[in-house]
Amino acid sequence: MQGVAAETAIRWLQRWDAQQERYVPDREERFRVVIDVVREVIGGGPAGVVDLGCGPGSLSQRLAEALPEVHVVGVDADPLLLGLGQANTNPRVRSVEADLTNPGWPDATGLPGPWDAAVSSTALHWLTPEDLGQLYRTLAANLRPGGVFVNADNLGLGQPALDTIAEAIRAARTRRVGTERNEDWAAWWQALQEDDDLAPLLDARSDAAIAHSSQNSLTVWQHAELLRQAGFAEAGPVWQFGDDHVLVAVR
Ligand SMILES: C[S@@+](CC[C@H](N)C(=O)[O-])C[C@H]1O[C@@H](n2cnc3c(N)ncnc32)[C@H](O)[C@@H]1O
Repeated sequence: MQGVAAETAIRWLQRWDAQQERYVPDREERFRVVIDVVREVIGGGPAGVVDLGCGPGSLSQRLAEALPEVHVVGVDADPLLLGLGQANTNPRVRSVEADLTNPGWPDATGLPGPWDAAVSSTALHWLTPEDLGQLYRTLAANLRPGGVFVNADNLGLGQPALDTIAEAIRAARTRRVGTERNEDWAAWWQALQEDDDLAPLLDARSDAAIAHSSQNSLTVWQHAELLRQAGFAEAGPVWQFGDDHVLVAVR
């Protein structure tokens, strides 16, 4: 793992999960819903699943642990996050470094198509609407008929009063479950950069010169419409808490 001790990486992975729960207080439940959707579609047999924007692999790992016949390939552009994820050594999870805005990314997975399912967690809001449309068309082309794309993310409702209420109930939820004081995104990255034990991964990240500056603010409905336009037969949310959604698209 690029010269980083497994114990160091695992410590950072635990800190990553806690940091993410500051923004997604029901993150573990949301992961379970994604797993339930994939289980429903694959019916317990062998299946290949792609995890888009997998980061350090929280969802990939949970999928593989819950579904013993599933092989997961995580795709992410950040070598540092991928490197931390290598501390988890489930043989049915692997990850590849690729940019999802590059149309050639499916080849990088090494997973022969058509795929049974693709999943994603808190990642695709980083893509522009144009890149997202292209990504959805690529997914539609690579999933088998009846296969699914399952996206777990905070997606707006597109109506000002509802979006304000959604934000308020999320804040209330973080207070109830106790994640409101968890380390935030900026503090996590700052602390990481100050950990000399991570120098090899930090070097790999700066060599990759990744920049995730753009953000789309598409609503859950706009995502569903883009998915239908891309070739999915059906698309809509199957689970929701405020703006927190599990959106499913069926090929
Ligand atoms: C907030 S993290 C979520 C990671 C993981 N899915 C999770 O839930 O813990 C967003 C991830 O999306 C990845 N990402 C953003 N834009 C990307 C792109 N164009 N290609 C590949 N990965 C991308 C980032 O590198 C980052 O790992």
